[in-house]
Amino acid sequence: METLIILKPDSVSKNAIGSILAKFEKNGFKIKELKMMRLDKEKAKEFYSIHKDKPFFNDLLEFITSGPIVAAIVEGEDAIERTRELIGDTDPAKAKEGSIRREFGTNVTRNAIHASDSYESFIREARIIFPYLAKTASSSSVRTR
Ligand code: RTP
Ligand code: MG
Repeated sequence: METLIILKPDSVSKNAIGSILAKFEKNGFKIKELKMMRLDKEKAKEFYSIHKDKPFFNDLLEFITSGPIVAAIVEGEDAIERTRELIGDTDPAKAKEGSIRREFGTNVTRNAIHASDSYESFIREARIIFPYLAKTASSSSVRTR
């Protein structure tokens, strides 16, 4: 099973890319796709469209477009659930000791990392970030490159 993670601009600017990816590798995940990119406002709006009516939407867009991000598709058993566990609570102050957000996050906006919260979210988000992935209903993404 696969999921999508995004190392947010705060992780990139504090030179934590390697440390965060290492946590996934050490926890038995395989990195299947990896790229550094910048999200423009349009892509960011599409990516976070479920939050468009939330009071924090503008802050979220400003932050996620403020610098380069690193996106990855990682594969492992129960990838979605285990990844959410590994990243920790949205608010780094509430995130468990040892979680990525606890270690690398600053506040609820600058919280180091995103991870898909369901299979449907993974497919939707992966198509936005890695558009060459074919549409697929199966758990292993078909590549069309
Ligand atoms: P993510 O989507 O980034 O993995 O985070 P999440 O599931 O833990 O949290 P979600 O509710 O989906 O919120 C998405 C992102 O919006 C920002 N946020 N700010 N100021 C606030 O109260 C607030 N609440 C959420 C965070 O950057 C969160 O990761
Ligand atoms: Mg979310």
